[in-house]
Amino acid sequence: MRELRVETEHPYTVHIGQGAVKLLVKHYRDLLAAADQVVVIADSQVAELHLPQLLGALEDFQPKVFRVPAGEGAKSAESFMDCHSFLLSENCSRNTVILAFGGGAVGDLAGFVASTFMRGVPFIQVPTTILAHDSAVGGKTAINHPLGKNMIGTFYQPRAVIYDSDFLQTLPENEIRSGMAEVIKHAFISNEGWLDELMAYQDFSTMSGQELEGHLEKGIAVKSAIVEEDEFEGGVRKFLNFGHTLAHAIEAHLGYGKLTHGEAVVLGMAYALELSESPELPRFLNWTKVNGYPITLLVNMPFDELLPYMKKDKKSTAAALNFVLLGAVGRPYIETIPEQRAQAAYDKLRKTIKEMI
Ligand SMILES: NC(=O)c1ccc[n+]([C@@H]2O[C@H](COP(=O)([O-])OP(=O)(O)OC[C@H]3O[C@@H](n4cnc5c(N)ncnc54)[C@H](O)[C@@H]3O)[C@@H](O)[C@H]2O)c1
Ligand SMILES: [Zn+2]
Repeated sequence: MRELRVETEHPYTVHIGQGAVKLLVKHYRDLLAAADQVVVIADSQVAELHLPQLLGALEDFQPKVFRVPAGEGAKSAESFMDCHSFLLSENCSRNTVILAFGGGAVGDLAGFVASTFMRGVPFIQVPTTILAHDSAVGGKTAINHPLGKNMIGTFYQPRAVIYDSDFLQTLPENEIRSGMAEVIKHAFISNEGWLDELMAYQDFSTMSGQELEGHLEKGIAVKSAIVEEDEFEGGVRKFLNFGHTLAHAIEAHLGYGKLTHGEAVVLGMAYALELSESPELPRFLNWTKVNGYPITLLVNMPFDELLPYMKKDKKSTAAALNFVLLGAVGRPYIETIPEQRAQAAYDKLRKTIKEMI
């Protein structure tokens, strides 16, 4: 079992490994026993596949389970209210503990519910996707507004992250790609040797369980080091948004959930590398191609349609676009880019991709 400590204002441990759910009662018995109720907010699809395993691990705590729509649909205002209605109808109180069971979507939703129910109750993340190595650590919670993704949310750290790699075995291919995108993002902003290792993958299905756990641990270490330095995103935490300005615009433009988050981030990272004039771009584009990322989508997506969303990005001000760029691998920085240059780089990237097809 791998363990990492996240030293935020309220520190907590991330446990990674096969059978990690068993640690719930081993390490968190006191927290669970002190609760008047234990409530699992579960992604409906994940509940279908893995709920018995989680409930089995919770032994005699007899948790109540509330299922929310699978994936991004969980992050709506309606589903947020439904969670509160459920908690109230079950007579939950400030002493209730919430468990988030699913990918990043349910983690973001359940974290936001936990941070707002009765002004805050403890919660534990039980992530079930590769991508959630990113979302379950760091304490950002959110739901979406029709005008923008993650626009309503809080900073609220979990009491623990229980990352059981057994759950990852049922992930479909596009969700594996999505999660590996955030893994490679963490490598881009931190460590060249690790980036080389990841770039060597031609097919993620050849990755062993041990290898994957190692990548998850490294990714979480990068994320938690940054979060420890800058919990509330005044500075370096913005580097975690490498590739995200364009990615969020693409997701909003296509409609949430049409493309996985990580797949959108891959397109955004290619663009950020182009803006950075990085020598890593050709190798990265080749990597996206062999691993089946939908990079060619950019060819038919005009800049004008994405620009309004990029202007709404939380990192941008009214007049300028701010991007996380890369001086070299492991050396991210923020740069303000005039619209014209942003457009020129975008068109150049589209041309390169077109020639690659
Ligand atoms: N809070 C943060 O810091 C942070 C960071 C990155 C991303 N996010 C958010 O995370 C969300 C994306 O998370 P995600 O990629 O985990 O996707 P997700 O939660 O939307 O899940 C994707 C799909 O996979 C299914 N699924 C989940 N686990 C499964 C399993 N073990 N087996 C089979 N199917 C499974 C779900 O039902 C869903 O259909 C986005 O909303 C994004 O904004 C948040
Ligand atoms: Zn992301």
